[in-house]
Amino acid sequence: MVPLKRRKVVSSNVGNIKTGAENKFPQVVLFLLERKMGASRRAFLSQLGQKKGFQVEEVFSESVTHVVSENNSGDEVRTWLDSQGGGRGRTPVHLLDISWYTESMQAGRPVQILDRHKLQEQQTDGAELVVFSVPSYACQRRTTLENHNTVLTDALSLLAENAELSDQEGRGVAFRRAAAVLKALPGSVTHVTQLRGLPCLGEHSMRVIKDILENGASAEVESTKQSERYKALKVLTGIFGVGAKTAERWIREGIHTLHQLRGSGHTLNRAQQAGLQHYDDLNRPVTKAEADAIREVVERAVVSVLPGAQVTLTGGFRRGKLTGHDVDFLITHPEEGREDGLMSKVVSWLESQGFLLYQKTTRNSYLESKDGPARPSSNMDRFERCFSIFKLDKDERRGTNAAEDTSSVGAHVQVKDEDSGSQSPILRDEQRRHVSAEDGGPEETKLWRAVRVDLVVSPISQFAFALLGWTGSKLFERELRRWAGHEKNMSLSSHALYDSKQGRYLRVTSEEEIFAHLGLEFVPPSERNA
Ligand code: UTP
Ligand code: MN
Repeated sequence: MVPLKRRKVVSSNVGNIKTGAENKFPQVVLFLLERKMGASRRAFLSQLGQKKGFQVEEVFSESVTHVVSENNSGDEVRTWLDSQGGGRGRTPVHLLDISWYTESMQAGRPVQILDRHKLQEQQTDGAELVVFSVPSYACQRRTTLENHNTVLTDALSLLAENAELSDQEGRGVAFRRAAAVLKALPGSVTHVTQLRGLPCLGEHSMRVIKDILENGASAEVESTKQSERYKALKVLTGIFGVGAKTAERWIREGIHTLHQLRGSGHTLNRAQQAGLQHYDDLNRPVTKAEADAIREVVERAVVSVLPGAQVTLTGGFRRGKLTGHDVDFLITHPEEGREDGLMSKVVSWLESQGFLLYQKTTRNSYLESKDGPARPSSNMDRFERCFSIFKLDKDERRGTNAAEDTSSVGAHVQVKDEDSGSQSPILRDEQRRHVSAEDGGPEETKLWRAVRVDLVVSPISQFAFALLGWTGSKLFERELRRWAGHEKNMSLSSHALYDSKQGRYLRVTSEEEIFAHLGLEFVPPSERNA
């Protein structure tokens, strides 16, 4: 440890407010770290010190010369210190074990700092490793699509998915939170010590990360990926309309593949039938160009049944993603109440024009007076909503460019984003009529593809909440609700924000106002990719 330059303490009456005891050692300004020590023990030890004439600060500040902690490693304390802005480069601060403090208490003066009192910090053979630090809630962080740790986050996301598919929501969330922390880091992790003190990295996630950093792979992730159960769960829940519970039941009956399901004699509901029929299309990523083409159609539908109504692209595409598993739209009208009955008209229009392969509409069931503040942990909302499968025609102009078509692996239509104006796939009634078979025949000759589309109608008074709630990411939303509940005693849903302290709903007209009410810095959609 670099020898400490003693510094003059300008104001010696900062500490000891509680006891009023004389500050006997003005060159020593102490701070006890609550981490792992706990609030009550910290309060007790602080008061003890103050009674003996030590200056023990309640809040960390630049004047602190000695940080005392219990059961923390030097790296953990250093990471914490960095997060307080008291990092390297300033006058060095002593990082000390509690033993120094208790011995000083016994001696009635600051005892000499010996090696055994000093917290050991990791030596990083020459090259200094960046130690990362991020705030604990995902909604306090800015997470762009630029992820420097995809190998780690893919592994954790796979374990999260496996847990979610296995009815282990808690585990799933833990892995999702860990992955989200890594997504927010400004660089690649090369060594576990860089993660010391980061939030949300539990023992299990750390073990997976360590395995990958040290051995190149995690045995758990690899064996999960290869397991028959996981593979079957993926295949079966890949069917629109099939959730984890149904898949689980089928797997117990020995059904692992679509072929086995088809031969099983199970009666499928309407959604599942459509899901099976359009399986390949619905499991192929939707491109931004395709999303834009669908937006045009939805806008046409909406303005023709209610002029002045507005359509907003939400979900992953609003966050700037280039592909998605579906396309999400939020529809509203600037005059409250005018949106009433809108969904059925939009759906009728789309159906009459042959744009829908499947649709199921659920009615709006939200009533503030009846529902009260939504449960913060739930992301279920009660908007009028239409789950649909769109029939999206491929632009026939695209067919003239054979190379482009055959090279397209991930999507039927490969369109550069910048060119979407001239090259986006469009929907054409004539083409649609040409296709008689529902599944459209072989890939190369198929003139359309199926795309999952979610339509949601919100009254303008709830629009900002709906927009925030439907923009995602799912984890970002979950964290917003957790923040609201745990840190602000508020309850946030896609309909409203309720302040329990004031006992009233907070009205807003923009996302910015919601963040402000929550005491959070505004995070634009492109930085909500947690
Ligand atoms: P999606 O599942 O569509 O996710 O939900 P996404 O971020 O757009 O990702 P991909 O690309 O389609 O896979 C979009 C948002 O809508 C909210 C989710 O919480 C998410 O933030 N949502 C979804 C609801 O609020 N309620 C729902 O029933 C479904
Ligand atoms: Mn989506």
